[in-house]
Amino acid sequence: MKPIKALVFDLYGTLYDVHSVAGACGERFPGRGLEISILWRQKQLEYTWLRTLMGDYVPFEKATDDALDFVASHLKLSLTTAAHKDLCDAYLRLQPYPGVEATLTSLRERGLPLAILSNGSSFSIGSVVKNSGLDHLFDHLISVESTKVFKPHDAVYRLAENALGWSRDEILFVSSNGWDACGARHFGYQVCWVNRNGNTLDVLGQKPDFAVTDLRELPDLVGNAVMS
Ligand code: 2OP
Repeated sequence: MKPIKALVFDLYGTLYDVHSVAGACGERFPGRGLEISILWRQKQLEYTWLRTLMGDYVPFEKATDDALDFVASHLKLSLTTAAHKDLCDAYLRLQPYPGVEATLTSLRERGLPLAILSNGSSFSIGSVVKNSGLDHLFDHLISVESTKVFKPHDAVYRLAENALGWSRDEILFVSSNGWDACGARHFGYQVCWVNRNGNTLDVLGQKPDFAVTDLRELPDLVGNAVMS
């Protein structure tokens, strides 16, 4: 394997906890926050994949918005327009997972460029990163919006390779989403799957090169990979 020259991170579910919105959901629907948040995230992802297959791109915010409409209808939740907007806005204030700042700082200290490659729009990615105070840690914030398709389409993974200027097999792509890890591996990145919850890997003909249970394992892993 080639030494790693740069890292690319998925945003939602990898650096930032999408279920941070469970708190806001639970304030409006006590006891149901996580249930709402889990179904919301699942539908959000499905809508990005289905829109890509239909050739009918909409920004990630619209997929998020539509997914919440589905959830409200399916779970028979009464949501005013204002409440709907408040919950969608909570997606702009997601919390980073523990150790994200220290891990990224340590990787930067090794001179490794860091990027985010996300299905989010530039506005969403920029907002999440800025609201968490981590914007100084990234060299590139890359949105799918110029491709008008979503991950795991190859055209999206190519954006980060072009932005970083290293070849795909010298870049470590890091994701907690198994489907994203498989997509990135299919494209040709070295891939680390952050499997925090002991999930089963999707059976898509791809296997990540590395798997960790916590992002904080990355500096050691990359240190070894850089030297090998
Ligand atoms: C991303 O950040 C949706 O988690 C996915 O691109």
